[in-house]
Amino acid sequence: MTPTPPLRLAIIGTGGISQAHAAGILAHPDRLVCTALCDVSDEQLKQRSEQLGHNPALFHDWRRMLADYREIDAVIIALPHHLHGVAVLDAVAANKHILCEKPLCTSLEQADAIVNALRGTGLVFMPGHNQLFAPMVREIKQRLVSGAIGQLRWLRSQDCFINQADFAEAWRGKSQLQGGGELIDTGYHAAYNLMYFAAAPVAQVRATFGRYRQAIEGEDTASVQVLFENGVIGEILTSWAFAKPHGTHAIHLIGDQGELFGTNNVLYYLPLGASEPERIELPAVRTFTEQLAYFADCVLAGQRPLHSVEESREVLALILRATDSAAGWEPYAAKRPQGRP
Ligand SMILES: NC(=O)c1ccc[n+]([C@@H]2O[C@H](COP(=O)([O-])OP(=O)(O)OC[C@H]3O[C@@H](n4cnc5c(N)ncnc54)[C@H](O)[C@@H]3O)[C@@H](O)[C@H]2O)c1
Repeated sequence: MTPTPPLRLAIIGTGGISQAHAAGILAHPDRLVCTALCDVSDEQLKQRSEQLGHNPALFHDWRRMLADYREIDAVIIALPHHLHGVAVLDAVAANKHILCEKPLCTSLEQADAIVNALRGTGLVFMPGHNQLFAPMVREIKQRLVSGAIGQLRWLRSQDCFINQADFAEAWRGKSQLQGGGELIDTGYHAAYNLMYFAAAPVAQVRATFGRYRQAIEGEDTASVQVLFENGVIGEILTSWAFAKPHGTHAIHLIGDQGELFGTNNVLYYLPLGASEPERIELPAVRTFTEQLAYFADCVLAGQRPLHSVEESREVLALILRATDSAAGWEPYAAKRPQGRP
């Protein structure tokens, strides 16, 4: 049954990023209300409850919450990555709509179980691909689709910064809990942006990983090359060890009729033959707030979101394939021609 507004949300995992989700809920009181919070940490529950400013019901166990508490239409899942899959499946079993932080889960087996569980339920599943709501991403997609740069040939998507957090003792420090390293974490954004623009299935993936700054088991830096089935070449550069390379852009697309590139809220458009790009200033928005409004619209209208479980599964598949590729490099020495240094 389609709920009526305001949509009653429970947040499962009230740590760092749930602050942005709670702010997004508070920004839309006509459409959204947070009725419940769940976390194993009392301190995190207290912080989020205080931010919301009313008294949502508090739980330590999401299964108990889903079984006992009736005032929930949908859940926001913002847990450590290894818990996403099981929490999504529990939410589906409890007939709740779902906004799940990235990644969808940490294995394709679990992703397929989620796809199957959702089939035919009528539930809305939306992955936390919040950068799709950035004006930069929307504007580039719109111009690309309207033919501004002709046929897309090459694109790059970058998300790099020096992450000051220390993950050595945190869940992000353990590959099994994180599901990999930086690529399945921050790099997920760069991956879904790339796939959104390329708009074709992935044909081949190759990757190189490095670990320079973070004491984690996985990589803290990833360089990924993707060949799409439509012939488009894509590149992802993502890092917690260094900033975006100077002079480059978060997103850069080259087509046979021009280029589109930009970072944050400044987009450049360079038609073929022009010597100077046009500079376009876009509005600054809170992507989490936009994302939540859109999620509410989708649930209240019973409509599939722009990205749902299928797209999220494809992003996960790309990342897991890239991770295998990075582990599978042949030692150069083995291929070196005889007699060469
Ligand atoms: N979209 C973005 O830009 C963005 C940014 C940061 C994080 N994230 C995603 O959000 C999710 C959470 O990341 P974070 O940085 O907030 O992590 P975090 O560690 O700050 O928060 C995770 C919370 O989950 C709680 N938790 C752990 N096990 C639990 C359990 N069994 N039951 C209930 N609660 C439990 C922890 O106590 C903690 O409060 C991750 O999926 C991450 O990738 C997204």
